[in-house]
Parts: sequence; C-alpha cells; structure tokens
Amino acid sequence: MNILDCINEKRSVRAYTDQQVSNETIHQLLTLGTKASTGSNEQPWGFVVIQGKEEIQKLSEDTKTYLLRNLDAYPYLKQYESWLLNPTYSVFNHASTLIAIYGNTKSHWYLYDCSLAAGNIMLAAHSMGIGTCWIGFAEHTLNTKEFKEKYRVPSEYELVCPMTIGYMKSKLTSPERKVPEVFNW
Ligand SMILES: Cc1cc2nc3c(=O)[nH]c(=O)nc-3n(C[C@H](O)[C@H](O)[C@H](O)COP(=O)(O)O)c2cc1C
Repeated sequence: MNILDCINEKRSVRAYTDQQVSNETIHQLLTLGTKASTGSNEQPWGFVVIQGKEEIQKLSEDTKTYLLRNLDAYPYLKQYESWLLNPTYSVFNHASTLIAIYGNTKSHWYLYDCSLAAGNIMLAAHSMGIGTCWIGFAEHTLNTKEFKEKYRVPSEYELVCPMTIGYMKSKLTSPERKVPEVFNW
C-alpha cells in the first residue's frame, strides 16, 4: 500500500473479526514501531502483549468498574458514563489482542517517543488490513503497580499507549478532519 494512501485512510477500528493476530505479526509490527525516531536515540520503550479475548474482557470489566467508581476525578469521561454502564460495552471492543506501550521515565522524551512508535504500529497494521484503536479509557488500569508486576513491567516505566488490534471487520471511510490551522498564514 502506498504510504500516502495508508495515512489518508487509517481509522480507529472498533470491530474485529475472530481471526487472531499471530505473535509473529505482532512482533513484526512492534519492530516497525521501534523504527520511530527517539530523543537522543534512547529508544525508551517496552511492550506488553496480551493475546486472548478472555483475559482482555476481564481487563475491560476491571476498567469499567474503576472508571465508574472514580468518575468524579475524571470529568472529561463523564460524557461516556452510559457506555461504561452498559454491560455489553467492552472498553477493548472485544478485541483478541491488546498491546500496551510503556515508556522509560528516565528518558525525558519518552512520551513523544512512545507516541511515535504507536503511530508507526497503527499505520503498519493498517497496511496489512489490521485495525487498531488507542484506548485512553485504560490509561489507569494498565498502569497500576499490580498490573505492572503481573506483566513484568519495570517500575520506572509508565504506560503511554494501550492499543487494541485485530483484523478489520469492514473497511471504514477516510477520516474527516478540520482544515489545518496555520497560525502565521
Ligand atoms: C489519546 C487517544 C485516546 C483514545 N481513547 C479512546 C478510547 O478510550 N476508546 C475508543 O474507542 N477510542 C479512543 N480513541 C480513538 C478516538 O476516538 C479517534 O481517534 C477519534 O474519534 C478519530 O477517529 P479516527 O481515528 O477513526 O479518525 C482515542 C484516541 C487517542 C489518540
């Protein structure tokens, strides 16, 4: 796929087929992710990959419970209360693969670096017919001490991007965007 078409078409995908993305393909995508530029070439990232709907569904329930209990602390999420209350809503859109990108806080630039890696992964995946979605809802539950211990994330790493990934059920139309605002033109 032409890179310009890829950038132009790529959407956040929330409906996946049941076909599991293989560990080999995930490894290929992560490798492409790590081609991103990083401040001082520090490459301050690490990944957790969770395969399987059951484990991801459990994390979705934990996330919903946590957010509903703490909604007052996150006023920007109030608009999604009815989604979180819906028993059929999956925070991870029933995906069977979840990638979480963690940044090493010892690098000043880790947030930028990991976000660039996330963008690479999303575009590379799109070119393979694989959809992705950044799941901001999970920014707390995948960053707790318990979660990090369970998945062997070193303590100096902070979560940057939780991302669902799976083969797209259908192709979406290109995204509509505002005209770029150039302040000095
Ligand atoms: C930082 C960030 C957090 C996001 N969090 C969520 C989320 O929790 N759940 C979700 O379904 N989509 C989430 N999205 C996807 C956005 O809703 C989506 O990018 C936006 O509506 C534009 O749609 P498009 O990506 O298909 O063009 C997030 C995107 C970003 C960049």
